[in-house]
Amino acid sequence: MRNGPTISPPLRPAGRRLRCLVLVGTRPEAIKMAPIAIGLSRRSEFETRLVLTGQHRELVDDVLDTFQLKADINLNLMRHSQTLAGFASRALNALHREFEKQKPDLILVQGDTTTAFIASLAAFYLNVTVGHVEAGLRTNNKRSPFPEEINRRLISVIADLHFAPTRESYETLLREGLNPATVYLTGNPVMDALRLTQDRGIHHARDEFPFLNADLKTILVTAHRRENHGEPLRQICRAVARLVESDPDVQVIWPVHPNPAVAGVVEEQLGRKERIHLVKPINYCSFVGILALCHLVLTDSGGVQEEAPAFGKPVLVLRDTTERPEGVAAGAARLIGPSEEAIVEHGTRLLQNELEYQAMSKAVSPYGDGRAMERIVDAILYHYGFTTSPPEPYDPFREPALRAG
Ligand code: UD1
Ligand code: UDP
Repeated sequence: MRNGPTISPPLRPAGRRLRCLVLVGTRPEAIKMAPIAIGLSRRSEFETRLVLTGQHRELVDDVLDTFQLKADINLNLMRHSQTLAGFASRALNALHREFEKQKPDLILVQGDTTTAFIASLAAFYLNVTVGHVEAGLRTNNKRSPFPEEINRRLISVIADLHFAPTRESYETLLREGLNPATVYLTGNPVMDALRLTQDRGIHHARDEFPFLNADLKTILVTAHRRENHGEPLRQICRAVARLVESDPDVQVIWPVHPNPAVAGVVEEQLGRKERIHLVKPINYCSFVGILALCHLVLTDSGGVQEEAPAFGKPVLVLRDTTERPEGVAAGAARLIGPSEEAIVEHGTRLLQNELEYQAMSKAVSPYGDGRAMERIVDAILYHYGFTTSPPEPYDPFREPALRAG
């Protein structure tokens, strides 16, 4: 396999650098775009600007601090309890105006958020090239995750350059009929972000959470998906309470997502329970440290599903579908859904059965080798004719897997 078979390169701007906007709206976009923003800013061929829609506020500020990045533009669009349509319409107008002002040659979007989709649409309306980081993930169920599955499909239709993190996502894009010359297999920059922070993580986590008892097994829980709001989230809470009540050697740390539809329920169900620590969203660097220190992960997060296997931490995925089947196939994750009984059953087995636990914890992360940023930057340089050869594709069977912790 070869990345990006030869095509005629688009015109490079004459006499000036390539104007590239890196778009970020939410926490996971900030984490995965940070290495790319850093990589682009080191190259003289680019004039790079980091643009925040402000879909998230504190969650993104925190990540930028971790990577010592500063936004060049912040549209500051978040509202408390914002609706999908409300945020999307504000973002489309604001991004259209911003792109008219900045006149980018290229914008980069990441993943499947409203920011990523609406920025692609605004760029398309102005005939600006779109590069999509973390392209080709699919559940094939348009309501799960909602609305992300549709967002990422729409972005694939609009985008001109597609950076697929895994072989599966690369092949999905080719099956959907995209021009292979526009699809690059790069690995996921979530692993680059881990590589940049892991050395600091454990110290930060120990300093920040002195109340965690080092003699107990720590379960790390996160949940925020829209399809889990309401009853599924209540079931997750009940299961967590049962796991802790039935095993005195277990404690839980749950950084609660600030979405009122999440925080309200979790605090009402689990506030003030012994050995259950509900905390505010954890700074990314300390979160990486908690991943290294914990025993088991329960999550409906996309990014956490990718990170935990790099630390050898088994993941129970609290969703009915996943666009990240690679972790399940590798044996690092189990897709168990948000049901109370399933969580108690699988959680108890992994807490009590050492062989089962070890089998999951030895699986190798299939999501990248920490060099996605290099490949994405090289692919853009190649695409615009600054270089004559494309980056070698990420090969999980050849590259040493990133083993963190
Ligand atoms: C969004 C993304 C989801 C991603 C998640 C990451 C969409 C449709 N959803 O979902 O794909 O997995 O981010 O966390 O793009 N809030 C704050 N402060 C913050 C961030 C959020 O107070 O820094 C609260 C606000 O009340 C906000 C609400 O959370 O209205 C929901 O934020 P929103 O971005 O609309 O949805 P998420 O559920 O966070
Ligand atoms: N994360 C963090 N602090 C937390 C919880 C998560 O820094 O308290 C990071 C985590 O390392 C991962 C990312 O946030 O990289 C995942 O974001 P989220 O779960 O909000 O969104 P998703 O990945 O599901 O889109």
